[in-house]
Amino acid sequence: MTLCVMFFLIIWRVPMTKKNLLSIYDLSVEEVKLLFSQAFYLKSKYKYFDILKGKTLGLIFEKPSTRTMVSFAVAMIQLGGVPLLLNNKNLQRKRGESIHDTSIVLSRYLNIIMMRAFKHSDVEEFAKYSTVPVVNGLTDYEHPCQILADIMTIMELHRIQAVEALRDIKIVYIGDSNNISNSLLAISAILDLNFTLIAPEEYLPEKKILSKAFEYTSLSKTEIKISSDINATENADVIYTDVWTSMGFESEANKRKKSLKYYQVNDELLKKVSPNCVVLHCLPAVRGEEITSEVMSKHENSIFTQAENRLHIQKAILLHLLNIKY
Ligand code: CP
Ligand code: NVA
Repeated sequence: MTLCVMFFLIIWRVPMTKKNLLSIYDLSVEEVKLLFSQAFYLKSKYKYFDILKGKTLGLIFEKPSTRTMVSFAVAMIQLGGVPLLLNNKNLQRKRGESIHDTSIVLSRYLNIIMMRAFKHSDVEEFAKYSTVPVVNGLTDYEHPCQILADIMTIMELHRIQAVEALRDIKIVYIGDSNNISNSLLAISAILDLNFTLIAPEEYLPEKKILSKAFEYTSLSKTEIKISSDINATENADVIYTDVWTSMGFESEANKRKKSLKYYQVNDELLKKVSPNCVVLHCLPAVRGEEITSEVMSKHENSIFTQAENRLHIQKAILLHLLNIKY
């Protein structure tokens, strides 16, 4: 009897397979399709049900958050589970406890953990020692949950049913190459999207980020273009921008403002795009820098739908990583 119980406990603590979402590249095309279909289904049908009753989600934040924190917490509650907000300042990590020990201990209390960190390698290290699924809630390298909500929003606003039909849409990201554009590049590579990234030369993506995306695209017909010419926005069906100074890069803010000033999303820039162009911003925005107040106001429906969709995609992510079928 004792042996049986011990065996059960070991199995329970160390699941045979554990799926993380640290990068968009962790997902197959089939998984991405499943996440979108579940998110659309949950958006249309359910507000509350108790499929995650008794389950706990830990939310670790090394940086501030509004959307990621609240959408994950509400998603968990609306699915019947419990979210725990774990600000790094209140954890013993603040006093130097290792990622290794923190991860092992938290895995024994929680069923799934989301982590927002400065360094991507810290989230990778955390996931290595965690026995429960780990989700990247933004690092210096990627923001996968955001980008899944963004593609969902593009499908919704351009009335696209099938992922394959996304290829007819020209998606343009303009501004700083950062975690958002890295995840956009990754999803474009995986889903064969028509994607153009526009940034000044000094803020183009690093070589290793481009090589990784092109590794995938060499096998497909994907059209990924990298340019410093703002005219490459021509006929865009989606224009996406993000802040010029991401969290953790504040000391470079003045230099960035000077280099990026010609890459602002404003009325002039939008003259070249397609008539039904959807403007996206992951938020928070700095009005007057990467986007004007006028454009934000005119396109607030798409930008706030994008923010709302974080909630629906987080539910799909939680169910998928917890391997819950319904
Ligand atoms: N877009 C996004 O991740 O927002 P927060 O930083 O508020 O979570
Ligand atoms: N690139 C931004 C995204 C914020 C959601 C940052 O990292 O600060």
